[in-house]
Amino acid sequence: MATTDESIYSIQNVSRRYGSLAALDDVSLDIRRGEWISIVGPSGSGKSTLMNIMGCMDSPTEGTVLLEGDRLDKMGEPELANVRRNKIGLVFQQFHLVQHLNAVENVELAQYYHSMPDSQEALDALERVGMKDRATHLPRELSGGEQQRVCVARALINHPDVILADEPTGNLDEVNERIVIDFFHQLHDGGTTLIVVTHDAEVAAQGERQIILEHGRIAREVIGVDGTPTKGQKNRDEAE
Ligand SMILES: Nc1ncnc2c1ncn2[C@@H]1O[C@H](COP(=O)(O)OP(=O)(O)OP(=O)(O)O)[C@@H](O)[C@H]1O
Ligand SMILES: [Mg+2]
Repeated sequence: MATTDESIYSIQNVSRRYGSLAALDDVSLDIRRGEWISIVGPSGSGKSTLMNIMGCMDSPTEGTVLLEGDRLDKMGEPELANVRRNKIGLVFQQFHLVQHLNAVENVELAQYYHSMPDSQEALDALERVGMKDRATHLPRELSGGEQQRVCVARALINHPDVILADEPTGNLDEVNERIVIDFFHQLHDGGTTLIVVTHDAEVAAQGERQIILEHGRIAREVIGVDGTPTKGQKNRDEAE
């Protein structure tokens, strides 16, 4: 499959094996620049494994992964770290906040690795997720949902081409979930590519395309708000 200029990610026949277990099993997926993709599926279906590979946190055992035409599967750690810093914003639960830094300092820390820290920009990012009045609080003084919103601000501060978010609203109540969704819509309107893993149907429905993973494979794909099934419906019907 050729990568067109429009593709930001081109994933071809990717597997990630742990011994005899295939966490991902021959997955192929093209993601357009500026697209908003939701990745859904049962626990253990391979969602985070796919996100880790797209986020340069892990490498496939087989297959090809291109980001903006560059082969991620061929890169070593220094190169992958560079891509992470410059192109990708990660909202992953395993990236907790640094406990001895306050909210705005945690956001500035992400800038530090990329450019000069700018407190005003960091505060603006916190304001956009409704956290400006908590800017000087340490993580232990914030609720789980508030910490998660700081993580969202931190992922966005360097204006990455792609946001990869693994359960970004998992700890949030409805009001705060709405804040994050609205923020994602603003980013999407500005041309950012969004790839969001979620168990929440409402969050998943925001995407232009939903990829449904089952047992490490793409079971089907749903495009558009009317839920038109496009791929693998037959497999799904057989399974049911
Ligand atoms: N480091 C690892 N070593 C061995 N097996 C792993 C490892 N990481 C993931 N797996 C296995 O790979 C499969 C896919 O895991 P993954 O974390 O991608 O699932 P997931 O879809 O994100 O699930 P959840 O919705 O629960 O977060 C699971 O069976 C998991 O146990
Ligand atoms: Mg997961």
